[in-house]
Amino acid sequence: MLQQEVNEDMSRMIWLTGLSGSGKSTLAEALRPLIENCHILDGDVLRRGINQDLQFSEEDRLEAGRRIGEIGKILLDAKLNVIVASISPFRSTRDKVRSLIGESYMEVYVRCPLKVCEERDPKGLYKQARAGQIKHFTGIDSPYEEPIQPDVIVETDKLSLEECVSKIIQCLSPAY
Ligand code: ADX
Repeated sequence: MLQQEVNEDMSRMIWLTGLSGSGKSTLAEALRPLIENCHILDGDVLRRGINQDLQFSEEDRLEAGRRIGEIGKILLDAKLNVIVASISPFRSTRDKVRSLIGESYMEVYVRCPLKVCEERDPKGLYKQARAGQIKHFTGIDSPYEEPIQPDVIVETDKLSLEECVSKIIQCLSPAY
């Protein structure tokens, strides 16, 4: 009982990983009003600011993930809850962040088949990647290493947005 109270008081980092177009940003926005004192770190947004010096090589993606983890830690230390929406395709990034953050870290695999992400193609990037206009695109000519033991998996091609959100909230707070 005490453990549960401590956990619910603890700031959390919800790390949404998955392919481009899998629904990470949409989920982050839907979770925001349900989690108090919460801040979203969105990979796309950060790439226009703090990560604007980085490209999409493996080395640069690892650095992007490392920075997101460190920024997230600062926010957690300031007692904020953090939602990360980042492809973060490499297991090593996610494992390092888990070690850095400890029990506050919760990994959510936003799973959606590449075919569906490609059909959605909300930014038209898959089309450009297939045409060879964008190189190193995740799922096309750059790998995505699936999480082995995520805390939660949400299948955005099978569940509604509400169902995905409630699965994540239940994992965060089993009494919910
Ligand atoms: S990560 O791989 O370093 O974790 P991040 O989440 O920050 O990626 O940014 C991914 C976003 O950058 C995508 O949603 C997409 O809009 C854009 N993008 C541009 N080029 C690429 C690329 N080659 N691979 C993946 N995403 C790309």
